[in-house]
Amino acid sequence: MAKGKTATIFFCQNCGYESSKWMGQCPGCREWNSFVEETVSRTSGKGSGACAAQGTGRAQPAVLSEITVREEDRLSTGMGELDRVLGGGIVQGSLTLVGGDPGIGKSTLLLQVCRNLSGEGHSVLYISGEESPAQIKMRADRIGEFASSMFLLCETSLDAISDTIRSRRPEVVVIDSIQTMFSENSSSAPGSVSQVRESTSVLLQLAKGLGVSVLIVGHVTKEGTVAGPRVLEHMVDSVLYFEGDRHASYRILRGVKNRFGSTDEIGVFEMRERGLMEVQNASEYMLSGRPENASGSVVACTMEGSRPLLVEIQALVCHSNFGIPRRQTTGTDFNRVNLLMAVLEKRSGVQLAACDAYVNITGGIKVVEPAIDLGVVIAVLSSFKNHVLSPKLAAFGEVGLSGEVRGVSMAKQRVAEVEKLGFDTCILPYVCLEECSRGGKIRTVGVKTVQDVIDLVF
Ligand code: TYD
Ligand code: MG
Repeated sequence: MAKGKTATIFFCQNCGYESSKWMGQCPGCREWNSFVEETVSRTSGKGSGACAAQGTGRAQPAVLSEITVREEDRLSTGMGELDRVLGGGIVQGSLTLVGGDPGIGKSTLLLQVCRNLSGEGHSVLYISGEESPAQIKMRADRIGEFASSMFLLCETSLDAISDTIRSRRPEVVVIDSIQTMFSENSSSAPGSVSQVRESTSVLLQLAKGLGVSVLIVGHVTKEGTVAGPRVLEHMVDSVLYFEGDRHASYRILRGVKNRFGSTDEIGVFEMRERGLMEVQNASEYMLSGRPENASGSVVACTMEGSRPLLVEIQALVCHSNFGIPRRQTTGTDFNRVNLLMAVLEKRSGVQLAACDAYVNITGGIKVVEPAIDLGVVIAVLSSFKNHVLSPKLAAFGEVGLSGEVRGVSMAKQRVAEVEKLGFDTCILPYVCLEECSRGGKIRTVGVKTVQDVIDLVF
């Protein structure tokens, strides 16, 4: 294509969907009013893949069986929770995206990582396009002492940043945030989809070509003309999202993509006066502040990656004053809860049709695993019957449409976690009972149907 030829394209700022004309709703992600006009140069973006980034010109095909794999060089971040989400540490020459709402603690987390890495003698460059050196210094003072191998650069031009990285060759680079960076190759405004992608492709070439590990901050934006981190998920090696309520002190870091390890791992942190602290025993943390002698509360066990996590499920079921009852969920899937209530009504004759129901998973965590079904069912029944359950009761299992309780994976680890936290009874799918028969103190009860649970507990 002719050099410098430009085109006008409309991009969805939420998911990066491209269109030649403006649309009210994005066909890709169903977001309303997210299209923004951008001028893109058609010559840019060519050869920005990882192979072209090696700088060796045209790549040659290789015999797959003859390719040797060496163990990736990983740098420990000095935080066990983060290392686990990354699959063991930061891989050399990798590109990692850390997304999250503004103010959730992304800059704080990465500054702490920089502190730990520079303390170990690694050279680190923290590049900020958002804050002044004095602002960053103020945050750094809250976190602690920094070694002299930690450098700071306040810059938004990627050409200048590339030159600095090429001349200084740091081992780790942090870009805070990608939405403030701009590359001269693209004429769009910083934060637009094409600019964010172009900037990421420059960083990708640097990471793969020079072997520097790059950590990118991406703000999740609810609206407006700033592109969200989702538009560059496909370009990076790992994607981590920071979740949690900004008003509460805990934060959950979730891995949603990882080319060097498993996804779905989570790390739990707490925001304190002096930065983010790791929460070692996440289950205990999630259960803190449980009400005593209250109906509608039960503990369920879910798996977060390789780790079992206990969560408290609360339900409030009351008589509805309207023709269409109100149902609401926090922290779990709304449709799933409605489905489970329909199963209870049809299979066990529990009259829930005229009841409002509110289901909440405490701790600010979002659980979509079907293994919490049994917990939801018990919590709803407990509130409906106003029956207070034993505080030392936990449950897990998937509930099917016929009211059957189905097996779930890693039952043994779940029971072990339930026992570790001092529970005395665990209700689980009958098919998992054999796997879990261990000589521990905990009483495991296998159930086959929802009716069995009702007979057993109520
Ligand atoms: P920040 O890392 O700036 O968020 P992000 O980069 O994701 O936008 O986090 C800012 C919040 O964290 C801010 O509200 C202040 C709070 N905070 C603490 O509570 N303790 C601390 O030690 C630090 C550094 C920040
Ligand atoms: Mg920040």
